[in-house]
Amino acid sequence: MFRYFTAGESHGKGGVAIVEGIPAGVPISEEYIEKHMRRRQQGYGRGPRQQLEVDRAEILSGVRHGLTMGSPISMWVENKDFVNWTEAMSVAPVDDEAKTRRVTRLRPGHADFPGVFKYSQHDVRPILERSSARETAARVAAGAVARRFLEEFGIEIHSHVLTIATIKAKVPDQIDWEAVEQSPVRCADPEAAKAMMAHVDWCRDNGNTAGGVFEVIATGVPVGLGSHTQWDLKLDGLIAQGMMSIQAVKGVEIGTGFANTELLGSQVHDIIEPWTGDARPFHHVTNRAGGIEGGMSNGEPVVARMALKPISTLSKPLPSVDLDTGDVVQAHYERSDICQVPPACVIGEAVMATVLAKCFLEKFGGDHLEETRRNLRGFLEGLNTFRPKQAMAAGSRLAPNPESERR
Ligand SMILES: Cc1cc2nc3c(=O)[nH]c(=O)nc-3n(C[C@H](O)[C@H](O)[C@H](O)COP(=O)(O)O)c2cc1C
Repeated sequence: MFRYFTAGESHGKGGVAIVEGIPAGVPISEEYIEKHMRRRQQGYGRGPRQQLEVDRAEILSGVRHGLTMGSPISMWVENKDFVNWTEAMSVAPVDDEAKTRRVTRLRPGHADFPGVFKYSQHDVRPILERSSARETAARVAAGAVARRFLEEFGIEIHSHVLTIATIKAKVPDQIDWEAVEQSPVRCADPEAAKAMMAHVDWCRDNGNTAGGVFEVIATGVPVGLGSHTQWDLKLDGLIAQGMMSIQAVKGVEIGTGFANTELLGSQVHDIIEPWTGDARPFHHVTNRAGGIEGGMSNGEPVVARMALKPISTLSKPLPSVDLDTGDVVQAHYERSDICQVPPACVIGEAVMATVLAKCFLEKFGGDHLEETRRNLRGFLEGLNTFRPKQAMAAGSRLAPNPESERR
């Protein structure tokens, strides 16, 4: 079973990721993981923390001579900033309260309010340290392992920014992913990108923040990942849960989910036609469903769109209350991003990778990469039995056709 965990506090010693269930024999390197972690650190609107950290994951276990061993893969992500927080984040008790950097002014839009009550804390720091999106450095490391596995099967994952505030990208039919990587706001529309950056500048100058919408697209996903048979096996449900767990994501759409509500059924549903382009005997002419029907991948690209609220921490803080006194005060301010939509794309890719890897391994299994490959090949060969001519000849569309099996 594929699963992963992360641990670590924003200003603690570092983060940890443990990835379990990746078969043996998958080529992986620290450089590969680092490349994706660096992508997460980029983006117009990031705060000063990203200049301080140069994220990399040191692999502690599960990989030998460049190949996974089938055992848990554990990774360590150091926080360079910890040197400035040794006492505030000390494991051992600290006598001098002034050195603990205690926070008492609750920050609206953060985990602070429910967290202090739930965990009975008279200091917000134990809550804010873990709820911080710094956690996603370790999550992207875990996602990179899943992604490397998926690449072995031709599955690729991309992402781009659709909107920042009210500025909407005009998305070309064919997205130039290299150009998106070069765009400071990960936007496929250079004109919109300029306007987005100007808006981020305006927010910075005015003590404000911006949110937006980003899209994650996975291509090469075989038909049949996920299942319609139980609520917690549905691929769209798993993607939504994973994406919603990204800090500040407040909405998830599969395909053109929300726009579909304004159309007629006849305009929405993707027509099916015969197909010889891949192992499937049929495909869909369009992909408004975002590659998922009935909780299962249908072989079209899997597309998810996520809505991010604007960053909660404002340099012109909102009114709030002080935990100690109950007085109305300005919320606590700690250095912060202005806009997180571009880096959230990369985190969304990581989440997509982990969900697809989990469902892929549930469908095809295998303790070694070659075993997984054989299982996938067998499944895809089985699709031949649905090729219309042979199936008709066999008298049933479902009966296996010995003719096609021989090919
Ligand atoms: C990449 C990324 C960076 C973020 N950076 C910040 C930040 O610098 N300041 C901030 O207040 N919130 C930031 N957030 C959002 C908060 O972590 C998030 O809003 C908060 O933990 C509350 O969780 P919730 O919004 O999911 O309810 C960031 C989110 C992401 C995805």
